Amino acid sequence: MERTVRLKIKRQDGPDARSRWEEFVVPWQPQMNVISALMQIQKSPVTASGEKVAPVVWEASCLEEVCGACSMIINGRVRQACAALVDKIAPGGETITLEPMTKFPLVRDLIVDRSRMFDDLKRVKAWIHLDGSHELGPGPRQSQENQEEAYPLSRCMTCGCCLEACPQINPRSSFVGPAALNQVRLFNLHPSGKMHAKERLEAVMGEDGVGGCGKAQNCVEVCPKEIPLVDSIASVARQTTKQLLFGWLLK
Ligand code: SF4
Ligand code: SF4
Ligand code: FES
Repeated sequence: MERTVRLKIKRQDGPDARSRWEEFVVPWQPQMNVISALMQIQKSPVTASGEKVAPVVWEASCLEEVCGACSMIINGRVRQACAALVDKIAPGGETITLEPMTKFPLVRDLIVDRSRMFDDLKRVKAWIHLDGSHELGPGPRQSQENQEEAYPLSRCMTCGCCLEACPQINPRSSFVGPAALNQVRLFNLHPSGKMHAKERLEAVMGEDGVGGCGKAQNCVEVCPKEIPLVDSIASVARQTTKQLLFGWLLK
């Protein structure tokens, strides 16, 4: 008998539509991941009970856990669909459940709008300022030690898993979340980025910034890039305290 994969997918036609579950059965293929199963459904959108339906929609780009676009909740855990191998998540042919992330506005089916994360990158100025395009000469050197601290932090792909898992991200809170705080640490470490450290810290002071973290550490558990988010939050908390206490000296 042909080996198959069964998927149970939470569907919603738009932000205000009612959600529903639909089940699909697709042929198993060696090394298949959740995206390849979704592609098969797209080719032939017929449910397990034989009903022809609109194709399930999802987002993906890099297919190698770099862009973060395919983040969704798979078997109750938030992760990237392109990195979720069917044989690993359902070794005995168990049903695989797929749901969209819940902490972002839903667009349709498995697609959510992660704009808030990109807005937060702007809020914390997650970049190195260049003052014009004229020749600036060599920038300050970055020490080996500094590079080693920065590299793991730089691996963030703005996927949203940490926000999805964080209990402090909810409709009653305006907490910025761990990913943006990690960017503050990253850019404040950089020898040129440091020049705007004060502005970054001012953007995350208070309850909607670093003070909003409840230290549950869920974020670290789910980050696919194993970024030490709790250390980053602690580092930014120390920097904001220092800025509050001694910032006036620097004015
Ligand atoms: S440690 Fe802070 S940011 Fe991370 S999950 Fe907990 S509350 Fe959220
Ligand atoms: S910190 Fe990790 S979980 Fe959060 S957005 Fe970046 S890569 Fe994703
Ligand atoms: S498609 Fe880019 S992370 Fe999955």
